Amino acid sequence: MQERSSSAAGQPAIVARDLRRRFGAVQALDGLGFTVARGELYGLVGPDGAGKTTAIRALAGLIDLDGGEARILGLDPARDGAVRERLGLMPQQYSLYRDLTVGENLRFFGRLATLPAARYRERAARLLALTRLAPFVDRRADQLSGGMYKKLALSCALLTEPEVLLLDEPTNGVDPVSRRELWALLHEFVDGGMAVVISTPYMDEAERCHRVGLVHHGRLLLEGPPGRLLADFERAGHARPTFEELFIDSIGRAA
Ligand SMILES: Nc1ncnc2c1ncn2[C@@H]1O[C@H](COP(=O)(O)OP(=O)(O)OP(=O)(O)O)[C@@H](O)[C@H]1O
Ligand SMILES: [Mg+2]
Repeated sequence: MQERSSSAAGQPAIVARDLRRRFGAVQALDGLGFTVARGELYGLVGPDGAGKTTAIRALAGLIDLDGGEARILGLDPARDGAVRERLGLMPQQYSLYRDLTVGENLRFFGRLATLPAARYRERAARLLALTRLAPFVDRRADQLSGGMYKKLALSCALLTEPEVLLLDEPTNGVDPVSRRELWALLHEFVDGGMAVVISTPYMDEAERCHRVGLVHHGRLLLEGPPGRLLADFERAGHARPTFEELFIDSIGRAA
C-alpha cells in the first residue's frame, strides 16, 4: 500500500459543501451538500436537470463554483494535482475509442494513466475477469452491447484503483441483468474501501446504495439510508411505498 496523507484519515473521503453554480438563468447547484465516507456508496438520485452532472463535475474539479467547496480526500480537486491519480471518473457521455478493441481501449487508458506495464497487466486482467469481458477482449468497442460498453468504460475508470470514484448515470440504458452486474461490481470495490458517488435517474436504484440524496433544482430534498427513508414514509401513512412514490411525493411538496 502506498502511504496516504494522514490529514485524510478520519475525515470524509468526499465533501460537497453548499455547492453553488449558475449557468445564465439556471441555478444548476443551489446549496447542494453531502459527504461520503470510505467504503460508502452514495447515490445521487434526481430527475433530468436536477443538477447531478454539475455536482459530479464540481467534485471532479472540472467546473468553477460560484460558492461552496468540493473536497476529495481533503484536497481541492480543482487545484491540487495530487487528486488526479486518486480519483476515478466515469462521465455521463463516456467516450471510448469505438474502432479499438476492448483490450486496446484498456491498454490506451492504462498508458494515459502512466501505469507501469506489470501493474497494468495485473489490473486489466482482474477487471476483465470481474466484468466477464475477458472473452470479448478482441471485440471492437462499437460492437459491444450497451451494458458491455458501460462495463468497459467502468474498467477504464478503475484501472488506477482510485480511492474515490464518481460515476454519472453508469446504468442508464443498460439492461436489468447488466445493471445488476454493474452494481455487484461496484459493491465489491466499495467493500474494499473505495468511496463512490453514483448518479442515477432510476429511482428504484436507491435501494442499492448505502445512502441516497434526492436532488431537485440543485438542492437535496431528502437524504438517508434507503431503508430508513422508506420506513419514515410508510409511518407517515403510505402503505408499502416505493422509492418512486417517496421521491415524487417529495418533489411535489417542494414545488
Ligand atoms: N454548461 C452549461 N450551460 C448551460 N446550462 C447548463 C450547463 N450545464 C448544466 N446546465 C443546466 O443546469 C441544470 C442542471 O444540469 P445537470 O446536467 O447537472 O442535470 P442532471 O441532473 O445531470 O440531468 P440529467 O439527468 O438529464 O443528466 C440544467 O437545467 C441544465 O440545463
Ligand atoms: Mg446528468
